[in-house]
Amino acid sequence: MSSLTSHRSASLSGSVRVPGDKSISHRALMLGALALGRTRITGLLEGEDVLCTAAAMRAMGAQVERLENGDWVVDGMGVGGLLQPRHNLEMGNSGTAARLLMGLVAGQGIRATFTGDASLSSRPMMRVITPLTQVGAVFEASEGGRLPLTMTGALDPMAITYELPVASAQVKSAVMLAGLNAAGETVVIEPKPTRDHSEKMLTHFGADVRVEDLEGGARSITLKGQPELKGRDVIVPSDISSAAFLLVAAAIIEGSEVTLSNVGLNPLRAGVIETLKDLGADIEILDQRTEAGEAVGDVRVRSSKLTGCTVPATRAPAQIDEYPVLFVAAACAQGTTRFEGLAELRVKESDRLSVMAEGLKACGVELEEGEDWLEVHGVGGTAKRVPGGAQAASSLDHRIAMSFLVLGMVSQQPVSVDDASPIDTSFPDFRGLMESLGAKFS
Ligand code: S3P
Repeated sequence: MSSLTSHRSASLSGSVRVPGDKSISHRALMLGALALGRTRITGLLEGEDVLCTAAAMRAMGAQVERLENGDWVVDGMGVGGLLQPRHNLEMGNSGTAARLLMGLVAGQGIRATFTGDASLSSRPMMRVITPLTQVGAVFEASEGGRLPLTMTGALDPMAITYELPVASAQVKSAVMLAGLNAAGETVVIEPKPTRDHSEKMLTHFGADVRVEDLEGGARSITLKGQPELKGRDVIVPSDISSAAFLLVAAAIIEGSEVTLSNVGLNPLRAGVIETLKDLGADIEILDQRTEAGEAVGDVRVRSSKLTGCTVPATRAPAQIDEYPVLFVAAACAQGTTRFEGLAELRVKESDRLSVMAEGLKACGVELEEGEDWLEVHGVGGTAKRVPGGAQAASSLDHRIAMSFLVLGMVSQQPVSVDDASPIDTSFPDFRGLMESLGAKFS
C-alpha cells in the first residue's frame, strides 16, 4: 500500500499526451498473437493490466517483444495456433484480460488456469462462462463462477448466436474471439451498442465482420469463422478514460487550460465529453482524424462554471469507466446532478457506486445513492469548495484512486487515498503528468 495526498492546486496549463488506450492495447496483443506474420504496435499502454495480456500471449506461444524505440512487435501463431500454457495465466487486476482471454482459450483445444488479485477474484465471470460453455468450453470455476478458474477450450468450437443479457463489450468480445476458430458465423446481439474496438481491429487484421443496427437501439455483429488474420501495424491512440481525469481537473480548477493530444474519440467511448459539455464544460476538439479505423483528435479544455444536469442511462456504455471522475465534477458543480443507469458500476474493479459515495461523503459532499443511480448535490463552483480533508479507500481500483486525487486538487483541505499503487494498472506516471501541469501531490 502506498498512500498519496493531493493538495489544492493553482491553475493547470500545458499540452500533454496521456498513455495509450487500454482496451485497444489488449486487443492489439491478442490479435497480433493470432495473426500470421508480424504485428507492430505503436503507443501500446505499458500498464500492469496490458502487461498481463502480453505475458499470457507469450505463455501461449506468441513472440512478444518491446523494441528500443518503445514500439512492440508480436509474431503470431495463426488462428487456432495457441499452445497450452505451462503455468497459470496471472490476470492481476484486469477484467478485460481475463474475460477476453477466456474467449480466446474457449476456441482452442487447450487447458488454462486463470488467477487474479483480490479485486478480480471477486468479479462475476458467469457472464462469459455461460456463452463460452455453449461454444463447447468446459469450466471449473471457484464458488459463484469466479477466479481462480481452470477451463478447457473446445477442440471443435461451435459458432453460436448469443444475445447479451447486459451491455458488455468484454462479453461481446469474448464470444467473438471464441468464434474466430469456429466453422460458420458467430453472431452477438447487444441490447445497446458498446465499444466496438474488437470489431474494428478484427476487420483491420482481415476478418469478415458485419454490423447491423436493429430496432430499439440494439445491434448485431456477425463474424465469419476461421479467417486468416495477417500481422498489421496498429497505432494506439491515447486513452479517453485516462484523459477524463485531466479533462475534469482542468474543467474544475479556475484559470486552467490544457490540451491533450491524440485522444481516441471513438463515439462509443466519448460519452464523457458529452456529459462534461452538458455540465457546462468548455471543451473543444481540434484536428479530428481517423487512424487505423479509430477516430482520434486533440482535446482542449478550459475551466468554466459547471451546473448540475441529468445524465441519462442511455449514455452509460459510452462512459462506463468515467463515472467516478464525473461524480467529482458533479460535486464541484452548482446544483444537483442525477446519474442514471449505473448498475454495472457495482461489478467493476470495486463497487464504484458505493465506494465513490462513501469517499465523497467523507469529503463533505452531499449525495443520495440508489440501487442504480446517484444524485450529487454540488457545492457550487470555485467560490464554495468541497471541504475535503479525508482519506478515501481506493479499494484496489485505479479509477477510484485517481478520482479522489483530482478532488483534492480543488477541495479546501487535501484529499488522500490509502493506496495509489493500483493507478499503475492503467495510467503509469499519472502523478508525474499531473505535476507537470501544476498539480501538487505528496
Ligand atoms: C472494456 C469494457 C468495459 C470497461 C472495461 C474495458 C473492454 O467493461 O468497463 O474497462 O475493453 O472491452 P464491460 O464489458 O464489463 O462493460
